[in-house]
Amino acid sequence: MDYVTYGKTGLKVSVAGLGCGGNSRLGQGQGKSEAHSIDIVRKSIDLGVNLIDTASAYGTEAIVGKALKGVPRDKMVVATKATIRSGSELSSAKEVIASLDKSLKLLQTDYIDVFQLHAVPPGRYDRVMKELVPPLLREKEKGKFRHLGLTETSPNDHNHETMQRVAKDPVWESVMLGFNMMHQNARQLVFPDTIANGTGTLMMFVVRNIFSQPDYLRNTVKELVAEGKLPAEMAKADNPLGFLIHEGGAASLTDAAYRFVRHEPGVHVVLFGTGNPAHVETNIASILKPPLPKADGDKLTALFGHLVGVGLDLPDNSPQRKK
Ligand SMILES: NC(=O)c1ccc[n+]([C@@H]2O[C@H](COP(=O)([O-])OP(=O)(O)OC[C@H]3O[C@@H](n4cnc5c(N)ncnc54)[C@H](OP(=O)(O)O)[C@@H]3O)[C@@H](O)[C@H]2O)c1
Repeated sequence: MDYVTYGKTGLKVSVAGLGCGGNSRLGQGQGKSEAHSIDIVRKSIDLGVNLIDTASAYGTEAIVGKALKGVPRDKMVVATKATIRSGSELSSAKEVIASLDKSLKLLQTDYIDVFQLHAVPPGRYDRVMKELVPPLLREKEKGKFRHLGLTETSPNDHNHETMQRVAKDPVWESVMLGFNMMHQNARQLVFPDTIANGTGTLMMFVVRNIFSQPDYLRNTVKELVAEGKLPAEMAKADNPLGFLIHEGGAASLTDAAYRFVRHEPGVHVVLFGTGNPAHVETNIASILKPPLPKADGDKLTALFGHLVGVGLDLPDNSPQRKK
């Protein structure tokens, strides 16, 4: 495993982070047993992963808590989240703190390393800053969590409007945002500020549906060609990103997707979500490989650098999964 300093938090984190949400939710999304999901966490730790990202909304905090039994707490970086939604209203500080307390209980720990507000839309940011952040900082002082973070709602915020504000505000020590081969605008919109301010960055939507389901990619490319956003010949290809897979290049589309993101300047941790033990191994191996050949990386930027919002589905929002 490779480890990096997580911005101004000073934490040493693995470049591959285990995501416990998304479609897989450690296999819970596919009806796997708790023991199966615990094994996914343990296997990741055995392979050197020390950053685990979960959330009150995922239903996987208790699994993570059980999986971490016997693992020295100071070797792990545990990140979780609280929702900011209470029906159609903004959650109160009391509700968010109750969520924090419940997370501590389910995770069976005295402190959370990175406590994040989950999926904050741009229109809620001012109220989050005014109503939620000050009381949360008092909880931080009590030692319930070490670093404050925020995640964007990528499917609803393609231009990182929330992140553009968060990345400039020193109160946030950690951010989570969407970045992938066909949604690269964080390079201009977010990373310059996170780098300047030493904000830790967690990447999501790196593979999701688009780079794990060939039909989904083909259909998306056809739509983008029809909208005039991609060259016409790409609509005819069986694998429109097949040019990435060759001797000395990527081994698969997921391999290309994880490597593309890992080596982007400004990226600290690439989150991978899976319920499949074999994918734990292949994904970590991909994240640890060198960058894609320069010509392939340049081609991805030339072809897709102008695209915005591609591959950012809400959980279970892919055509294949809906069948
Ligand atoms: N707003 C937010 O706060 C927010 C939103 C989204 C995500 N997240 C966080 O980011 C994490 C990562 O996002 P994600 O879950 O979408 O992860 P991802 O790594 O981008 O994509 C995971 C998807 O790809 C599949 N997959 C993974 N490895 C594969 C492989 N080697 N070959 C083929 N298919 C593969 C998985 O299915 P299998 O189970 O079959 O492997 C799953 O459907 C989440 O778990 C969560 O922690 C946060």
